Amino acid sequence: MNSTRNVLNIILILCVCLSWGCTDGAQKRENGEILTHTIELSSLFPSSSSPCVLSTRASNTKSSLHVTHRHGTCSSLTSDKATTSPDHAEILRLDQARVNSIQSKLSKKLTDRVRQSKSTALPAKDGSIFGSGNYVVSVGIGTPKRDQSLIFDTGSDLTWIQCEPCVQTCYSQKAPIFNPSSSSSYYNVSCSSAACSSLSSATGNSGSCSASTCVYGIQYGDQSFSVGFLAKEKFTLTSSNVFDGVYFGCGENNQGLFTGVAGLLGLGRDKLSFPSQTATTYNKIFSYCLPSSSSYTGHLTFGTAGISRSVKFTPISTITEGTSFYGLDIVAITVGGQKLAIAPAVFSTPGALIDSGTVITRLPPKAYAALKDAFKAKMSQYPSASGVSILDTCFDLSGLKTVTIPKVAFSFSGGAVVELGSTGVLYAFKMSQVCLAFAGNSDDTNAAIFGNVQQQTLEVVYDGAGGRVGFAPNGCS
Ligand SMILES: *[C@@H]1O[C@H](CO)[C@@H](O)[C@H](O)[C@H]1NC(C)=O
Repeated sequence: MNSTRNVLNIILILCVCLSWGCTDGAQKRENGEILTHTIELSSLFPSSSSPCVLSTRASNTKSSLHVTHRHGTCSSLTSDKATTSPDHAEILRLDQARVNSIQSKLSKKLTDRVRQSKSTALPAKDGSIFGSGNYVVSVGIGTPKRDQSLIFDTGSDLTWIQCEPCVQTCYSQKAPIFNPSSSSSYYNVSCSSAACSSLSSATGNSGSCSASTCVYGIQYGDQSFSVGFLAKEKFTLTSSNVFDGVYFGCGENNQGLFTGVAGLLGLGRDKLSFPSQTATTYNKIFSYCLPSSSSYTGHLTFGTAGISRSVKFTPISTITEGTSFYGLDIVAITVGGQKLAIAPAVFSTPGALIDSGTVITRLPPKAYAALKDAFKAKMSQYPSASGVSILDTCFDLSGLKTVTIPKVAFSFSGGAVVELGSTGVLYAFKMSQVCLAFAGNSDDTNAAIFGNVQQQTLEVVYDGAGGRVGFAPNGCS
């Protein structure tokens, strides 16, 4: 008996060893599950001359918009030759500004709650967040409709665009600035309206009044702002998805890092957000896929159209209650099939959220340390390189054609296990500096943030009515 088992064990070990020694360096478990990704290094550096590949999902779904990266081949904002390659150091600096702003909003909310339970002090007002949200869709506004390129943001609520006349400053944008006087479906909103009152929760500032017209002002964590009239307009997503009377900000004084785009599409959870305003049609459900590079488009789809059956859902966590954010509960991280030893409280104490505008995923310090150690151990065949900005685990891949990296998966409460796409793990500066695209928070009490590099190629479903967020692989194609 025993000896038979031993022989079987030896055969099993041999099989495992043989499969681990696979030709392309891929590692497998005995059940055949592949534990690594092998990536062509050239795919990490999209060339500005590669043609734009359109998402068929976006092309074939009626309530779907193409999502493009702000810079690159697919963006109508980038003029053909003068492709401004984004400055990575600047992107990461702004990313940290956004993260600081999200985390201070959340911790302020927690201290407010404590304070409110003790006295009748009003909650502190805080600005919205903005940073380097880099994904853009085009939405028709007005009659006749004019296409507006908008950064979409799950971390804020008010949708706004630049409007004529610019009374102080308008930043430069690619398409002409919207002129409300040439649209027959534009209406000002009165100061006494409920929409005007809801500005305070949507923007952190209550609306004010000018000749009985409601005036909004929103400032972002990075000193950007937009000020103008709260208005109602016709929004045309596609020819069959048209909404009359959508509240938005017609900004006559706008400043900040929005260069090129016309404004912002607010996809947060507040009453004034676009999903809330279109709730009778879409039930606060939308999904998106962020493309793997600037040479591909992804999609932003409203309603349940096209949502894959393989989506796995996790409840929106209570940590973000009363904010615009969609909260998540991370319960585990797996690297190359190995579950990291991280105590549950490391995740549950600060909580987590998903954000379309944060670039690099932030983890509690102890979770990041465990991830980094496991990743480094499985990448030991590659020489290390110095860190850049917030990224400290980098490799020198000069002269190589491919790199084999361990797969990384996140487990969320409710049993949703999400394996990151092959482009969701690394952030490439240059061949000699390709880094693990995660960073640790500076404090154990700061919330984790599931960022947009990690979301690339996943189908991400936001179900505001059902109180859940879901994930499925290969969402862009
Ligand atoms: C909206 O209100 C502003 C400020 O009172 C005014 O200048 C503008 O003409 C109004 N537009 C419409 C269409 O009523």
